[in-house]
Amino acid sequence: MPQIAAHARAVPASGIRRVTELAWSLPGAVVLSVGEPDLPTAPHVLAAARDALDRDDTGYTPNGGIAPLRDAVAAWLDAGHAPPVRRDNVWVTAGGAQALHLGLSLTVGAGDGVLVPDPGYPPFTMATHLLQAEAQPYPLRAEDGFLPDPAAVAAAITDRTRVLLLNSPSNPLGTTLPAELVAELVDLARRHDLWVLSDECYAAFTGGEPHVPAARFDTDGRVLTLHTFSKTYAMTGFRVGVLVVPDTMAPLMPTLQESVISCVNTPAQYAALAALTGPQDAVDHARATYRAHRDLATALLDERGIPWLPATGGIYLWADLSHATGGDVAAWAEELVRTRGVAVAPGSAFGPGGEGWVRISLTASADDLRTGLSRLPARTGGA
Ligand SMILES: Cc1ncc(COP(=O)(O)O)c(C=O)c1O
Repeated sequence: MPQIAAHARAVPASGIRRVTELAWSLPGAVVLSVGEPDLPTAPHVLAAARDALDRDDTGYTPNGGIAPLRDAVAAWLDAGHAPPVRRDNVWVTAGGAQALHLGLSLTVGAGDGVLVPDPGYPPFTMATHLLQAEAQPYPLRAEDGFLPDPAAVAAAITDRTRVLLLNSPSNPLGTTLPAELVAELVDLARRHDLWVLSDECYAAFTGGEPHVPAARFDTDGRVLTLHTFSKTYAMTGFRVGVLVVPDTMAPLMPTLQESVISCVNTPAQYAALAALTGPQDAVDHARATYRAHRDLATALLDERGIPWLPATGGIYLWADLSHATGGDVAAWAEELVRTRGVAVAPGSAFGPGGEGWVRISLTASADDLRTGLSRLPARTGGA
């Protein structure tokens, strides 16, 4: 038999799925480990998908997506990006996941390096491996509030590095990068002649300070931006995301998209169009809900003496369980599911820098947060 390709086998497995699947197999277990909105998709979004099916609008679309959706995305993003965002810059993808894959496909080849945040979203590393490139972690340290230190990012650059991957608001940290830091990081990429791949999938969920797109500081067309409809509009299963590319890449895009998905599911694109152009009350409600869940979760953690990182954006809370994890948070999290029936994502699943920490998903219901967090081992007194 021929061998399975080595780079396919080299893709690291997700440590989040392990605890989550274990929890799903145990009756009564509470799942706080996945970012699945516990909110319904808005009725007008569902109706748009249904209408597309009813009129049998189910054929291929252009590779980049239906024109009104691309135009609506361009209109939404144009003011925040320095280079103009036009239809040709906007590529509709199969979720943020395929936007990531496409963005990396455009910028790295075998042996090239991608600077990824540690801790960071595991597919940053997984997708890099799949392209036979090398993930080059840059540390996000507790003493810096888990924000990137430009000097530490610069220290991780080698002559193979091609891409600086940024993620704000962050999964798993719930941090958002302030404007000066984003500007500094884009400038660093410019000085080292790197592409910037900026994952802004949680842009809708910031607390107070507005979201800062990396492309705001793009002076020479080196920033690619990822978005998704998944979390903002509770549309995870529709699989619609966006990659915004510089003008220089636009001519290549039809071929690249053709070679992987051709185009995104047509009714799903109409649903995304309705989501973006229709009433935004569901997004406002989701934002308020996740903020309320954050406040509930931090109060519950405080009762148990468990430290947490202030979350200024996104849909997750990052909590320090190092008093209980014995130096192996992954093994501890599995044991926690078995013995106490609650799944949290072990911090080490996001990189070595997450050891001792866990990610709690604020998309879970308030009841699940109350039950699940009451099962965490207290740091002072308590259970
Ligand atoms: C930071 C980040 N980027 C991208 C994605 C992928 O989004 P999608 O589910 O639309 O593929 C996620 C999903 O959790 C994410 O957290």
